[in-house]
Amino acid sequence: MPGDGIGPEITEQAVNVLKAVVEGSDLELSFTDGLIGGAAFDAEGQPFPEITRQQANEADAVLLGAVGSPQYDELDRPLRPERGLLAIRKELGLFANLRPAMLYSALADASSLKPEVVSGLDILIVRELTGGVYFGQPRGIREVDGQREGFNTMHYNEGEIERIGRVAFEAAQKRGKRLCSVDKANVLETSELWREVMNRLAAEYPDVELSHMYVDNAAMQLVRAPKQFDVIVTENLFGDILSDQASMLSGSIGMLPSASLNEKGQGLYEPSHGSAPDIAGQGVANPMATILSAAMLLRYSFGRGDLAERIENACVAVLDQGLRTPDIMQAGMRQVSTAEIGEAVVNALGN
Ligand code: NAD
Ligand code: IPM
Ligand code: MN
Repeated sequence: MPGDGIGPEITEQAVNVLKAVVEGSDLELSFTDGLIGGAAFDAEGQPFPEITRQQANEADAVLLGAVGSPQYDELDRPLRPERGLLAIRKELGLFANLRPAMLYSALADASSLKPEVVSGLDILIVRELTGGVYFGQPRGIREVDGQREGFNTMHYNEGEIERIGRVAFEAAQKRGKRLCSVDKANVLETSELWREVMNRLAAEYPDVELSHMYVDNAAMQLVRAPKQFDVIVTENLFGDILSDQASMLSGSIGMLPSASLNEKGQGLYEPSHGSAPDIAGQGVANPMATILSAAMLLRYSFGRGDLAERIENACVAVLDQGLRTPDIMQAGMRQVSTAEIGEAVVNALGN
């Protein structure tokens, strides 16, 4: 589902890479194109049409570009592209959003932070994706005391907290065994419960060291000393903000992939960035985040970590060759287009 803005440009490259890596392997993938976001609104009058809903449910995995564009910002909220994205996440029950932020060594100087602060960085943000203030009822704009008031509701029940907690503890077990739960327990009741459930779960994962941090401090620590983190688990809105922030540690938001998983093993894979209307249609968008999302697709939805690694290694090789889109351009490197990055990754797969 390419979506809007740079979505079609970047998904085209990721699909080419996917097709190339499965060719000659024992995995066969069949592809279907789907409409979502503004593209779906234009064609069907809705950001998440019924046909797309069916396609999503039938698929083992969805690869998504991005949604949104200023031209849709004046539409009624239920018709906006972003609603399409929220709807597909909710429809498939994709509660676990994994956003890994790594610094590839070739990009040590591309980050806005000093190389010694970010070199070797490898953190995973586990963001709760189907709850919190994004979906809480009641919500709306109402008239109170003669003026309009906007209101949203944040709530989390124990079950929602526990299932995202388990995903994070299990991820930490497979990595550096350190989990930092980020909340605002000094102010919010949702966070108070969140912290209580995380502490309770910790007893079941004695090999994982659990710590807690307030979200404001976490934002500061991510910039001050990001390598102190291994896995971060947090609620929907905090995770949205912190993952964009973490993306700059890896050089560019164009480098940050994501996987959104449900309890049945289905997944949606998309870059963490948006539709970048400011650069859409120019062939300059960085397709790496989408290509790396395709690697996560092979790993999580098809159990093919081997093929995922081939894509990841190919991305490293392309960066080592000095090929760069403008967002990660550095002195002495060669600036190339979105499509040229995609082609170079295909070539570096070494089929
Ligand atoms: P954005 O992530 O689209 O862009 C922020 C900045 O990062 C822009 O300067 C953009 O050019 C740059 N950028 C993003 N991806 C890039 C890439 N692959 N290569 C190079 N540069 C890249 O965020 P925004 O501008 O706040 O939002 C634009 C639209 O995207 C809005 O409609 C928003 O709702 C939507 N959005 C969608 C998603 C999604 O589909 N998952 C995520 C975030 C924002
Ligand atoms: C993201 C985006 C979305 C979110 C928007 C477009 C609904 O920012 O995927 O991070 O807030 O989850
Ligand atoms: Mn976001």
